[in-house]
Amino acid sequence: MAVHLILLGLLSLCSLSFSQECNQALQVNVDFPGTDIAFQYSPDVQHCQLLCTQHPSCLFFTFVRADWTRDGRHFYCYLKSTPTGRPNVQTPLVGVTSGYSLKPCSQGQVKEPCLSEVYHDVDFPGADYRFLFTADYEECQRVCTQDPSCEFFTFANGSFSVETIRHKCHLKFSWTIPRTPIVERTAGVTSGFSHNAQMTTQIYDAVCQSKLFPDTDIAGQNVLVERAASPEQCQALCSAHPTCTYFTFVRSTFSCNLKKNPDKMVTTARNGYTSGLPTHFCQPDNNWLKVAHEGVDFRGSDIRFELMDNAEECQRTCTDDPNCQFYTYVTKNFRDRNFWRRCYVKRVITVPSLPKVTKLNNVVSGFTLKKCLLIPKSHV
Ligand SMILES: *[C@@H]1O[C@H](CO)[C@@H](O)[C@H](O)[C@H]1NC(C)=O
Repeated sequence: MAVHLILLGLLSLCSLSFSQECNQALQVNVDFPGTDIAFQYSPDVQHCQLLCTQHPSCLFFTFVRADWTRDGRHFYCYLKSTPTGRPNVQTPLVGVTSGYSLKPCSQGQVKEPCLSEVYHDVDFPGADYRFLFTADYEECQRVCTQDPSCEFFTFANGSFSVETIRHKCHLKFSWTIPRTPIVERTAGVTSGFSHNAQMTTQIYDAVCQSKLFPDTDIAGQNVLVERAASPEQCQALCSAHPTCTYFTFVRSTFSCNLKKNPDKMVTTARNGYTSGLPTHFCQPDNNWLKVAHEGVDFRGSDIRFELMDNAEECQRTCTDDPNCQFYTYVTKNFRDRNFWRRCYVKRVITVPSLPKVTKLNNVVSGFTLKKCLLIPKSHV
């Protein structure tokens, strides 16, 4: 009976993950109503399709375009899924475009897409970390491309309604390194990372000299609390964040506290706390990606699971799958035997996520061109 169940499970799993065909066609003025799993803002349907491709369980989407007239829901990107992998219904609807995740396509596995489009009279509000005044939006985009933390920008041009912020260039940040949204202590599971997880897009000559302060707390100054399995992972997060000046990792809760105070750093001795400094303009030592964490669950963010014999095999499966960023393997010490031997491969969205997208006259918004300058790895 158990064997049958496992076989059945395997069969349904295979039909789910392998029967999906690569379908790149966009369906203009077609709605895939209902079955939403998430909602995000997107400036255009290509970005929405990237979000769906990178979302662990999105299989298709509907995007509400700028020319939608029924209500104010412009630039809405609805991520969707069904057990069959197909929309239950398709209905004609003017102002929306629908399409499929590119996970089954070879280009669905491009990790660092180049987003070269600029959007006139479109604002990307929020996520600002630095401002300056530039002659035109091209210069604002050049600054964004050169600034390591900048993922997108909004520029107010010389005709903008508020005179005092004409020519103001807003540089904005979004996480583009894989983060583990939930890290929990759970007996009988082992978690770790793809050895190919991309932590930086730039290549530097200098090797980072990592600075960690063991059994040390730095009080206050929290900007952001993330989750991490180790002080080294917390350091990678701090290094990627534009305003993180130092961090404290708390082992008992896996909280990674990113702190901001460029003026001073007050340290105190505290067991179980590890503090440290971010790295700058150097090649990080990514050996922490190779550490498997026993008794730790990276809960959620599942793409799928497969059955296998040990955590090492699960780790290799994740590394070999271009869509996998991290994994959790369930051993025979786990409380519920129905989950034994499951290898969950996981990922999060790493294409820039926009807190909001709205229409606004006389502004120009767009993305960094960093990734457009990269030479694909296979050509090196
Ligand atoms: C500002 O942008 C608007 C629309 O994008 C354009 O019509 C206008 O000419 C621009 N103004 C300046 C001074 O560039």
